[in-house]
Amino acid sequence: MNILVTGSAGKLGTVVMQRLKAAGYNAIGADLVPGVTTDVLLNVNLKEQVLEATRHIDAIIHTAAIHGRHYDLGYSREAFIDINIYGTLNLLNACTKQGINKFLYISTTSIYGNAMVSPHQAVWVDELLTEQPRDIYDITKQAAEQLCKDFFYKEGVQASVYRVGRFLPEEANLEANHRLYRGLDERDGAEALYLALQHTFQEFEVFNIASSSSFSKDELVTLKHNPTEIILKHYPEAEDFYKKNGWKFPESIDRVYVTDKAKTMLGYTPKYTFNSLLNNSS
Ligand SMILES: NC(=O)c1ccc[n+]([C@@H]2O[C@H](COP(=O)([O-])OP(=O)(O)OC[C@H]3O[C@@H](n4cnc5c(N)ncnc54)[C@H](O)[C@@H]3O)[C@@H](O)[C@H]2O)c1
Repeated sequence: MNILVTGSAGKLGTVVMQRLKAAGYNAIGADLVPGVTTDVLLNVNLKEQVLEATRHIDAIIHTAAIHGRHYDLGYSREAFIDINIYGTLNLLNACTKQGINKFLYISTTSIYGNAMVSPHQAVWVDELLTEQPRDIYDITKQAAEQLCKDFFYKEGVQASVYRVGRFLPEEANLEANHRLYRGLDERDGAEALYLALQHTFQEFEVFNIASSSSFSKDELVTLKHNPTEIILKHYPEAEDFYKKNGWKFPESIDRVYVTDKAKTMLGYTPKYTFNSLLNNSS
């Protein structure tokens, strides 16, 4: 099976390439910039280049995008629309032209936006929560998701969406805190995409992909106001571990990313969880 991975020089794309190759797939990395996991230089904005790069391809994993960092750097709205929406459309059109049946689109939990804000409690973020995009990044990711849905039902492309949690480089305390309720290790992200490649969907599906959380709905109010109490209930050993490292627990937890759908439908079982951080360093 020939799989084109866009954004192959990026953080997630690199790991996806490694995971697919380890599984024996013929993974072809495509990116604007060269890199050890990039085989083809490709600008997804350019239709002709996309058509050329997608010849003899059986599936596409589309990670290429400009994102939060570019938003902070002041990239224009046009640039977001060109790369995130138009680039995705070029790839979906190539699917219909080249007979490529599988398209995995990497979206973001960021598109839940303002729906994740409540002064009273942490918000339960499953795929039923209605997105409330906050900026041009969120808007373009949401539009690209809708294009995937359109191609699923109107063109018969097996397009599906993966809203991944943050996997930015962070200092260790913050990374551990985020791992409790919203973070993701990109290796778990790559595993989810690998699992999704094996799946045939009856309907258009959207999945949250993050590190798993142990929290439950009846803990949401306390998570917002006194998260330490709930954290220590689930992970009593974290107290010594945090003390030993001079770390601090979060003062408030504002959301809980729920990945039950990916677990049930895809068999997603993240390895790089908060628990694994505690166990690997004791
Ligand atoms: N990093 C995070 O925390 C995070 C969180 C949520 C969602 N995401 C999503 O995950 C995906 C991957 O993120 P990442 O952190 O690995 O990004 P990254 O910036 O590390 O990699 C993105 C890659 O896309 C390439 N690219 C950009 N424009 C392109 C174009 N026009 N044509 C071809 N390639 C192009 C870049 O050169 C880069 O190598 C993105 O879709 C992003 O929106 C990331």
